Amino acid sequence: MRAAMAAAEVGDDVYGDDPTVNRLESAMAERFGFGSALFFATGTQSNLAALMSHCGRGDEYLVGQDAHTYKYEQGGAAVLGSIQPQPLENEPDGSIAIERIERAIKPADPHFATTRLLALENTMGGRVLSAGYLRRATELAHARGLRTHLDGARLYNVIVKLGLEEPAAVTGFDSVSICLSKGLGAPAGSVLLGSREFIAAARRWRKALGGGMRQAGVLAAAGLYALEHHVRRLAEDHENAQLLAAGLRSLGLQVEPPQTNIVFVHIPAEHLGPLRAHLAERGVLASVAPLTRLATHLDAPRPKIEAALTVLRQYPGWAA
Ligand SMILES: Cc1ncc(COP(=O)(O)O)c(C=O)c1O
Repeated sequence: MRAAMAAAEVGDDVYGDDPTVNRLESAMAERFGFGSALFFATGTQSNLAALMSHCGRGDEYLVGQDAHTYKYEQGGAAVLGSIQPQPLENEPDGSIAIERIERAIKPADPHFATTRLLALENTMGGRVLSAGYLRRATELAHARGLRTHLDGARLYNVIVKLGLEEPAAVTGFDSVSICLSKGLGAPAGSVLLGSREFIAAARRWRKALGGGMRQAGVLAAAGLYALEHHVRRLAEDHENAQLLAAGLRSLGLQVEPPQTNIVFVHIPAEHLGPLRAHLAERGVLASVAPLTRLATHLDAPRPKIEAALTVLRQYPGWAA
């Protein structure tokens, strides 16, 4: 990947002149069957530009209470986009109940914001939303005049897990944001997919959000490399998540069964501080919380998972 980055042919992407960025955008649009694509530095910026391209000032988007765009992006849609979020409770499987979506769409009435968009996420905290659910949710949204956005930061985990072709994973969505960093292993980069008109609007917002990059081809080259070399290996991350979950369970901990590369484990309150210290002293960095989230990825191969489990087993508190 480093060699591909060093060898990348570059230009000024603010003017659309970077051949490597253009190649990545064309490849992604073609793979997923969209009219156009746009390269961003991060998933947060890509999602925000998407929300701002779909919704105007005072519009509203429906979103899961636990969704990244609502909960983990500092409320950027409201803060920077003047878009009102309508957060809706997520079900245990990560979906938002169809009836809940239906009830939340506001009537045309001057008291209310205009409900413009339904935003979903897949995987949602590592959980895979079913094709049937996605079809029902997006059909309902379109029937009620809403647009649909998918935060597909980890969509390739879904594609590998279910053995899908890319277009099948985005059916029903007007826009999709996909991360090339994280599991796919690029140092930075996300791609937003949509129609030509939509991407033209997003390109303007990207510049306003400070996301116009110049010789961005060095990053796009990493993304192209990741697409070619790091997609199928996501299955290893899924296997490693099972290994990690089994190891944690053997310590008597309650573990949510992982579906892809994310493991959620419940840590009893009395262990939080001591376990954090035990791990840190032995070089295992983890954000230990009541519900601790552990993600397997390219740079955490099986021997590292096993080493982390060994350190976890050595924690003296389990015996108490
Ligand atoms: C589901 C989801 N969406 C969006 C993002 C934001 O991506 P970034 O960290 O590149 O801004 C993340 C980051 O972890 C994520 O998990």
